[in-house]
Amino acid sequence: MHNDIDKILVNEQEIAQICQNLGKQITHDYQGKRPILVGLLKGCIPFMSDLSRHIGLYVDMEFMAVSSYHGGISTSGDVKIRKDLDISIADRDVLIVEDIVDTASTIMTIINLFRHRGAASVKVVTLLDKPGGRIHDFTPDYIGKTIPKAFVVGYGLDYDELYRNLPYVGVLKPKVYND
Ligand code: IMP
Repeated sequence: MHNDIDKILVNEQEIAQICQNLGKQITHDYQGKRPILVGLLKGCIPFMSDLSRHIGLYVDMEFMAVSSYHGGISTSGDVKIRKDLDISIADRDVLIVEDIVDTASTIMTIINLFRHRGAASVKVVTLLDKPGGRIHDFTPDYIGKTIPKAFVVGYGLDYDELYRNLPYVGVLKPKVYND
């Protein structure tokens, strides 16, 4: 698996530091509140797990499954909800936990849905931001690291459902998806 990686973009130490810093900021910004962390499956799993342990507040943890990729390396722009939330978000402060924001189609769809459902506030924390891929005007509220427009895998991010368990984020060798 490690041989399929061209270069490491965010290593384990940097990821740990990012989670600590973001957790601290979120703890500060949501003081006195009980936000709902909404993780977008499956890519959010390692990040939500590590980040949430640096948030020193009462939080609810919810998950949604949406998909816009169908095994390729570019977004289809067609966002489908595969698993919805189990609780109401009306009048609640929602913090969406994303692995990466690329075109921002996925996140814009979810933000609009949550606003329609009456959330008191909707913010986004993303481990990675890829502004070079944007087709919507959107900036996440909390960003772990801004990266160039490359296809990356690891720490939750997949190619064809693989590499999510890599402990770092890396660029896949083009031969992996060209073969
Ligand atoms: P967007 O809707 O184009 O912003 O894409 C968001 C989703 O696409 C993310 O939650 C990922 O699941 C997937 N995605 C975007 N860029 C990458 C990447 O470089 N590697 C793996 N998945 C990606």
